[in-house]
Amino acid sequence: MSPRIRLLKISELEDTVGREALADTLARFSCPLNKEVESYLKDASKAVQSSCMPSSVTYLAFDSRTNDLLGYFTLMMKAYSVRSDALNSANKRLISRFSEIDASGNFTAAVYLIAQIGKNFALPEEDQVEGSELLMAAMDVFCETKSAIGGKLVMVEREVDRPKLLEFYNDNGFKSWTTRRNAKDGMVYDQMFAVLGGK
Ligand SMILES: CC(C)(COP(=O)(O)OP(=O)(O)OC[C@H]1O[C@@H](n2cnc3c(N)ncnc32)[C@H](O)[C@@H]1OP(=O)(O)O)[C@@H](O)C(=O)NCCC(=O)NCCS
Repeated sequence: MSPRIRLLKISELEDTVGREALADTLARFSCPLNKEVESYLKDASKAVQSSCMPSSVTYLAFDSRTNDLLGYFTLMMKAYSVRSDALNSANKRLISRFSEIDASGNFTAAVYLIAQIGKNFALPEEDQVEGSELLMAAMDVFCETKSAIGGKLVMVEREVDRPKLLEFYNDNGFKSWTTRRNAKDGMVYDQMFAVLGGK
């Protein structure tokens, strides 16, 4: 992990400094490019609650020199189910090594999910973290988990109408596999995957 970044789970920070100081810290976060990413963190109780549940963990990334809040990400495990004919042959071969296959040849795999990720745009531009640095810190957490319990695939879901994010994730080793339409709002997501390296 970049020596600049110090990670703290949001729940740990709350335990250490208390709810009010946590709220002060989170109030210094701004992410105008993605209001959902911003409000998820701003609504501290929502983030803390969900990180108390086993389903996800939210990590705050601080600048180890200045203590500025650089950004955050929320990580979890997810079941990814996909019809066999929705994948190209290379991805089919890859996922078959980590998944259950039903009688119709459909795959279900446990994958690591980056549920939220965003950098803090409230900092002066020269102090902001590079998105790739933040993403690599998330990948490092998965690598540690992988060495303890295994796992190989990391998924992120990008709204299809945000092409700049396609560039960002492609540059950082993610490839588009499948799309998913959210039943609630009709939004279409590009489901992108990266493969964790090493044994
Ligand atoms: C994604 C992110 C971490 C990448 O950081 P980075 O590599 O340092 O890159 P930048 O912040 O400079 O963004 C690169 C470009 O993508 C654009 N971009 C970033 N997030 C975007 C978004 N959510 N929607 C549309 N465009 C976005 C930026 O405007 C910028 O465009 P430009 O090249 O025309 O200036 C950071 O942009 C971010 O926190 N974005 C908002 C949160 C977000 O969308 N998270 C991803 C959810 S899947």
